[in-house]
Amino acid sequence: MKLHSVLGDTPIATFLKKYWQKKPLLIRQAIPDVRPPLSPEDLFSLAAQDHVESRLLTNVNDRWSLQHGPFHALPSRRKQGWTLLVQGLNLHHDQAADLLHQFRFIPDARLDDLMISYATDGGGVGAHFDSYDVFLLQVHGQRRWRISAQTDLGLKPGLPLKILAHFTPDEEYLLEPGDMLYLPPHYAHEGTAVGECMTCSIGFRAPSWEELGQAFLEFKAATLELPGRYSDPGLSPSRHPAKIDDHLLDRVEHQLKKIRATRDDVAVFIGEYLSEPKPGIFFDAPEEPLTLAKFRGSAIRAGLRLHRKTKMLYRGTYVFINGDSFRASAADRGLLRQLADQRRLPGGMLATASKDLLESLLQWYEDGWVVEGSS
Ligand code: SIN
Ligand code: CO
Repeated sequence: MKLHSVLGDTPIATFLKKYWQKKPLLIRQAIPDVRPPLSPEDLFSLAAQDHVESRLLTNVNDRWSLQHGPFHALPSRRKQGWTLLVQGLNLHHDQAADLLHQFRFIPDARLDDLMISYATDGGGVGAHFDSYDVFLLQVHGQRRWRISAQTDLGLKPGLPLKILAHFTPDEEYLLEPGDMLYLPPHYAHEGTAVGECMTCSIGFRAPSWEELGQAFLEFKAATLELPGRYSDPGLSPSRHPAKIDDHLLDRVEHQLKKIRATRDDVAVFIGEYLSEPKPGIFFDAPEEPLTLAKFRGSAIRAGLRLHRKTKMLYRGTYVFINGDSFRASAADRGLLRQLADQRRLPGGMLATASKDLLESLLQWYEDGWVVEGSS
């Protein structure tokens, strides 16, 4: 059976080989009956909340303005040329999370979030480039995309947002609901709403090496074991008391060179790092705590699934969930991997779960990381 993919007629393997990180691809009717994950009104209410990352952009006679939410008032829907961007919609809405999960042919380690933009006629964020791959899925109304393979990525100075100084589009597409445009990193583009429209951006993460290096050093610092202390029983009289001598340097160098990035360190670090929720993401605990026996009974009846905010990854014997890591026993590994890959466990599978595993699942349930129901 051929599963429907958001890439339409392009097989996933072909997409990855020919387009991913390389060149744009327009997919007409990628999701033919697409519905916006939420209405403009619901989006505006979301943008009024403190924990939601939102931005408002307006462009009047080439004068750009950028404001950060929360927004308790927005321009009228009848007013032309404004855009509201809401980041991380998948964290706030199950339907948006389901939409993002249609892109899991790319590993979770690379998938970032689903952003949605609402724009009135003529609205857009200007000609720019992004540092990450993006799928731009039209979910309501029409948007005209102009794109360019230009290598001149110089920006206009003095603006509150990044706008290309010179934009010379070489292709133009009008996207209808269900159409999708893939762009690799650093590909110049400009989207303009044709009438009121909504566009979802499926974004990816590609941390810079420097960012990863810094985070790794913090991880190493927290787990560092370097026993002993500096000593110099063979010290000779100092003729230049301010000088740092070779002996001191040799000894310190010898100790510091013991600090290594073993493969195991790197695996634990990267699993914890990539599964860490973004700052400001909090989980709600269930109202009623359950005993282990009650939890087991209802999990077997209803199944379990990961909360949409939960990030779960695994590698080898390790399992990572929301920034925590632990070693899973050989007996529990299969179920945990299934939970991570499918993001749900049918109740029937839980009947054979070990007590250890049930205790972990109960803890995650109490933390709000796992919820009941497997559909
Ligand atoms: C938008 O949806 O208006 C902007 C998305 C983008 O250009 O990356
Ligand atoms: Co962009």
